Amino acid sequence: MTQTDDRHTTVDLSAYPISEATAHRLRTMTIGHVIDGVVVGPGSSGTLPVYDPSTGRAVASMAVAGPSEVEAAIASARQAFEDGRWQFLDPLDKERRLRELSRLIAVHAEELAELDVIDGGILRVYSGFIAKFAVDGVDYYSGWPTKLQGSIPATPGDIVVRATREPVGVVGLIMPWNGPSAVVVAVAAALAAGNSVILKPAEQTPITAVRLAELALEAGIPPGVFNVLQGTGDVAGAGLVAHPDVDTIAFTGSVDTGRRIQAAAAARVKRVSLELGGKSAHIVFEDADLDAAADATAAAVWGNSGQVCTAGSRVLVQRSVHDRLLERIIDRSKGLTIGNAFDPTAQIGPLISADQLDRVAGYVTIGRDEGAELVLGGSRIGDAGYFHEPTIFAGVDNSMRIAREEIFGPVMSVIPFDSEDDAVRVANDSEFGLAAGVWTQDVSRAHRVPRRLKAGTVWVNTYQAVYPSVPYGGVKQSGHGRNLGAESLDDFLQTKSVWTRIGAEP
Ligand code: NAI
Ligand code: MG
Repeated sequence: MTQTDDRHTTVDLSAYPISEATAHRLRTMTIGHVIDGVVVGPGSSGTLPVYDPSTGRAVASMAVAGPSEVEAAIASARQAFEDGRWQFLDPLDKERRLRELSRLIAVHAEELAELDVIDGGILRVYSGFIAKFAVDGVDYYSGWPTKLQGSIPATPGDIVVRATREPVGVVGLIMPWNGPSAVVVAVAAALAAGNSVILKPAEQTPITAVRLAELALEAGIPPGVFNVLQGTGDVAGAGLVAHPDVDTIAFTGSVDTGRRIQAAAAARVKRVSLELGGKSAHIVFEDADLDAAADATAAAVWGNSGQVCTAGSRVLVQRSVHDRLLERIIDRSKGLTIGNAFDPTAQIGPLISADQLDRVAGYVTIGRDEGAELVLGGSRIGDAGYFHEPTIFAGVDNSMRIAREEIFGPVMSVIPFDSEDDAVRVANDSEFGLAAGVWTQDVSRAHRVPRRLKAGTVWVNTYQAVYPSVPYGGVKQSGHGRNLGAESLDDFLQTKSVWTRIGAEP
């Protein structure tokens, strides 16, 4: 990639349908690290361009961490943890400051949403949803500091044991690009548990992380408690994983990178939690409301252009309703407007990068070569930006690569099945286990099938619903640990048993 020394925007922002405030912010802000409460610009490791996926043009440039920035961010988080400026703050005070962060994110939601559209290529409508999710998630975790508690295990009478729950220490959060502002929810969970954090955003979407850390400072979260380290996976990401002063890693992203992180963390027996990919089965039974199922199965692969870890990319349809459902899915998919993520009429936006577009196009070729029937789409669009048509393969066999590998793009594989047993067997025949969907109006089946599915989330007669209190994560190679809910806190806490001998009972 080309290096550039221009810290500010390289295209004319007046052409962008963004507020004057956002344009001004983008012109003047440094897309840098946030270390010990200070935004730090590019150092000796230089910069990378930040691309707008809707146009393929560079809109800004970002700082890239080298080893010295990695050290500085970790030292900042370590110091902040050890001196107790956050860890030992009155829990009510922690709650107030986290709640203030949520309030400030709400105040700046429009700006954050606009910035997510610029570097993430996220449809403007969906970026609003992401910003709202950030507000709700931080609000949810802001209630936790006063509710954390340990236990007093049963012991012989001459002993008292307090099992306390303590923060792990310094948390490295390594995050993907498909919902940039939403990463603050994981930050809030780690902070609610009393830790210090180093957020490593994806190098494709560096912008809102800086704003979120600034808002945290404004909310009264002390400097050094929420740091941001910008840069590549190889240097910034791997640097956090390898460093002895980072106590745990929470990662969201691809299986390959997750595997590499878990292996590297093993060298120090470091805890990791991993939210990885999926090849989620979206199962439609013959007794389903077919209109609702068609709406949902289409939305579950076209939403965010398929760049969602829970994309329902394998649609399993009972043979008796196969043709009717497929026709309805095609109907809902063929007229969709594909365009610039800022265009309010666009229903499908760009993919994140030229690499991702190549990857998706590569899978379309693979699907054709494997003998699947291309019934919709199949092509890239235009020569500017990274657009791909919604693409449907029918007659897919579950052994094909387009049924087994995460594509992370608008590509649906439709697989017919005969019986309920059949559906469960095919759904579970995957290395992944992130999510599944079930469409049925039979109340027994609606309870029976989810029990048999190997997935961290099963949605029945709905899909991709999320709520901050509901745990979210995978089984099998979709990872371990949970985001959201009380369970997410478990990844950021450790138990200490304190024994006190009080002498024999009288
Ligand atoms: P990635 O998993 O490599 O990147 C995610 C994050 O990990 C980024 O912040 C990156 O800088 C960091 N990273 C990369 N290599 C690292 C390493 N060795 N050590 C520590 N951190 C590292 O995903 P990428 O390259 O952006 O996309 C590749 C594919 O991954 C996509 O095509 C898609 O299929 C899948 N993906 C899945 C996601 C999900 O939520 N399931 C999210 C993003 C990508
Ligand atoms: Mg990668």
